[in-house]
Amino acid sequence: MDSKARIAVFISGGGTNLQSLIDTSQQGRLSGDIVLVVSSKSNAYGLERAKNAGIDTFVYKLKNYAGSEEAEKDLLEMLEEYGVEFIALAGYLKLIPVSVIKKYRDRITNIHPALLPKYGGKGMYGRHVHEAVLASGDKESGATVHLVDEIYDNGRILVQEKVPVLPGDDPDKLAARVLKIEHKIYPLALEKLIRGEV
Ligand code: GRF
Repeated sequence: MDSKARIAVFISGGGTNLQSLIDTSQQGRLSGDIVLVVSSKSNAYGLERAKNAGIDTFVYKLKNYAGSEEAEKDLLEMLEEYGVEFIALAGYLKLIPVSVIKKYRDRITNIHPALLPKYGGKGMYGRHVHEAVLASGDKESGATVHLVDEIYDNGRILVQEKVPVLPGDDPDKLAARVLKIEHKIYPLALEKLIRGEV
């Protein structure tokens, strides 16, 4: 019997975090299998990563449906069909429907490229986060894996790790340093959640 947790990863872009989850799972260092990748964009490079790893993909766009109710129903059915138990948001730029949050309460994670609760909330994504950190003069930043609830970047923090802000940093340099940490802590946090350790 396959006792591994069944995970769906939601993306909107390049999917380097998705890749680190795929690699960790393939190396047997994650007690879970990524069974489905959901993307809000049909041209997200992360979809290629999924296909290369033999993982099924689903492009989920509201505009493909008559209304949000139909859309949510279809998404929930898809997750059901794949027997999804955990959802990992990895650079997913859309809101998760409340019905999905309710059904997967405490089993949806997100990774944020800063030390939450600082630099979180609406509008704080991608480059904006690193620009805000640099503008503040903070001496450190980092990455946070947290649970997802109805409020942006609000759920319980599972794992966090710091990186220094260095003289001469620009948003790209800082983002690259943070991303490296993201790739390390996301699989770790997910593993702890699956094992019930956080
Ligand atoms: C990461 O910085 C993550 O923290 C944020 O979006 C970015 C996604 O990068 N939520 P990638 O698509 O995983 O490369």
